[in-house]
Amino acid sequence: MQARLAPAPETGILTFLSVSLNVTASHPMEDQIQSLNVSALEAIRSCTDESQIEAERVRLLGRGGELTAFSERMRELSKEEKPRIGKVLNEVRTAVTAALEERKGALVSEREARAFRNVDVSLPGMAFPSGAMHPITQLLDRTVQIFRRMGFCLADGPDIETEWHCFDALNTPADHPARNEADTFYLPDGRLLRTHTSTIQIRTLEQMAPPVRIIAPGAAYRRDEVDATHLAQFNQMEGLYVDEDVTLGDLRGTLEFFFRELFGKDAEFRFRPHFFPFTEPSFEVDIKAAALGGGRWLEIAGCGMVDPAVFEAVNARRGERVLDPERHTGFAFGFGLDRLAMILSGVPDIRHFTDGDQRFLSQF
Ligand code: DAH
Repeated sequence: MQARLAPAPETGILTFLSVSLNVTASHPMEDQIQSLNVSALEAIRSCTDESQIEAERVRLLGRGGELTAFSERMRELSKEEKPRIGKVLNEVRTAVTAALEERKGALVSEREARAFRNVDVSLPGMAFPSGAMHPITQLLDRTVQIFRRMGFCLADGPDIETEWHCFDALNTPADHPARNEADTFYLPDGRLLRTHTSTIQIRTLEQMAPPVRIIAPGAAYRRDEVDATHLAQFNQMEGLYVDEDVTLGDLRGTLEFFFRELFGKDAEFRFRPHFFPFTEPSFEVDIKAAALGGGRWLEIAGCGMVDPAVFEAVNARRGERVLDPERHTGFAFGFGLDRLAMILSGVPDIRHFTDGDQRFLSQF
């Protein structure tokens, strides 16, 4: 019995063990294969980069490789020797292939470890700032959601308007202060930047017939001196409901429900008689609620029952009596989003809303 053992390499799995149970004397070819095994494993172990591994693979296992040559010489062997020595050759080929793979893997990990060693983990990390919705957008979304639950849909209109849509159709006489050039941005062609979103009442009634139930958020423009509480462009929300038998009670119920959803069930209301050209009667709505700082009354919206003169202006424009003041009634309301957002979010200066300063915006 004879046993041949390749010298154990540092890594255990490379151990090549060939135990031959054959009692006959070994053939010289078998000795040659065994010694090639020893020298090959030695050579593979001493490779120091991946290209040397590749060179070893070609030298040993390539088409003209040293181990390959033994396969060709198998036919020199006798019928008894061939299976035994063939088996040895196979085992050596397997061991050499495994050794090449193992050494290559080790070299690759070493190379990667070297690359990571150059990473300075004390450098500041990369920040991934996450955005947030603008506080006015957040308020607008909540507002739309609440009115949707009451069956209101969204309506829209242009920011650049005709005087007719902004004033005349809304029953606003030519000498009304709102039409003053000092208060309104007029374009050279006589059009203007809408001073309120009530224009969308007219735009909607020009297109639709009752029942009409819309809300219309949008920008409004006034030539105000910009300061902590005024911008020349601000955000309004308009509402309009026209149908048969719409009453002042519906108006109160709708607005009280809306503002209670927004500010809490404790909200108290005051509908103070007021004047708007396009509603009769007209009111200003005051609210008191803990969410608005409690204690004091805050003037928060304008509203009223749509003046029949508005219906008639639309009828005249359309050339048909789609709105019959004998049959149709409606309510309208309007409020500003900016001041509400300021109160709700505790923003002391309205100009923060348009500065685009990350330090401000990231707080919401
Ligand atoms: N348009 C008015 C404004 O800008 C607000 C307003 C008041 C709208 C009464 C309405 C309303 O629809 O009925 O001050």
